[in-house]
Amino acid sequence: MSVEFFKYKGVNFYKNILYSEEALNFAENEFQVLDDDVYIVTYPKSGTNWMIEILSLLRTNGDPTWSKSIPIWLRSPWYESIEGQSQIKDVVSPRVLTSHLPFHIFAKSYFTSKAKIIYIIRNPKDIVVSLFYFNKMICIYKDPQSFPELLEDFLQGNLLYNSWFDHVKGWMQMKDSINFFYITYEELHTNIRNSVIRICKFLGKDLDDSQIDLVVKHSSFNAMKENKMSNYTMINQDFMDQNKGSFIRKGITGDWKNHFTIAQNDYFDEVYKEKMKDLNVNFFWEQS
Ligand code: A3P
Repeated sequence: MSVEFFKYKGVNFYKNILYSEEALNFAENEFQVLDDDVYIVTYPKSGTNWMIEILSLLRTNGDPTWSKSIPIWLRSPWYESIEGQSQIKDVVSPRVLTSHLPFHIFAKSYFTSKAKIIYIIRNPKDIVVSLFYFNKMICIYKDPQSFPELLEDFLQGNLLYNSWFDHVKGWMQMKDSINFFYITYEELHTNIRNSVIRICKFLGKDLDDSQIDLVVKHSSFNAMKENKMSNYTMINQDFMDQNKGSFIRKGITGDWKNHFTIAQNDYFDEVYKEKMKDLNVNFFWEQS
């Protein structure tokens, strides 16, 4: 299977069963966003599936029956992928859809709609670590030869969906829009209950305390790891090799400290500082 990239409007995509020029063109130019849609938008490995689980549970007021009976990728299809586009027709409104697209190629119809976006941002050092393990187990992506090689590709933006820095800077242009909400993976970790309450407020959902407790309980790392509809163990082995790792892997903040050398950390900080210097938002991992 090919692991070469092709470019769509300057962004890297794999030439594989997930992506095609036609599907990306459709996603950008023809896809009809509905006013009551909610989009979970992330750079890969930022906590996308965690948010899908949270929103699935919000939909059912905390009842896990739906999350435990329908695979996560059908609950919130990945709208720019070939398969996701074929799955969307079965999604009942209000739809929750997922995307990793950078800002400049996101669905044009979004920008004239009332649809909402939840954008999750994660400490990029932890994203590199998470990507490293994920790319080893996913069979249709390039296998990382080594951690230093992946780190360099990450800093150069030479990866699927290009640069994390550009992704974040692109989407943060929306930060003052009333239909755009951003939250960090680290905030979800530090205070999941409060995060769920903030998400409810953004979505106009009114859950009582016990329903919020259920959302928190059933979207926890352990609950998702146990839920075969959410842990990707049901997926075809030719797509994700479960012998090489787990999709719901470690779920912690700061795992980069177990992987980066001092020199790699200094180098990363230098690139980060330069690339993020114009963004007037301080993420709290910057203090640690
Ligand atoms: P790690 O590899 O660091 O463990 P995405 O869904 O965007 O691909 O992100 C995957 C990352 O989110 C993985 O990180 C995964 O373990 C973590 N994750 C998934 N569900 C989680 C949960 N309920 N709580 C915390 N982390 C979770």
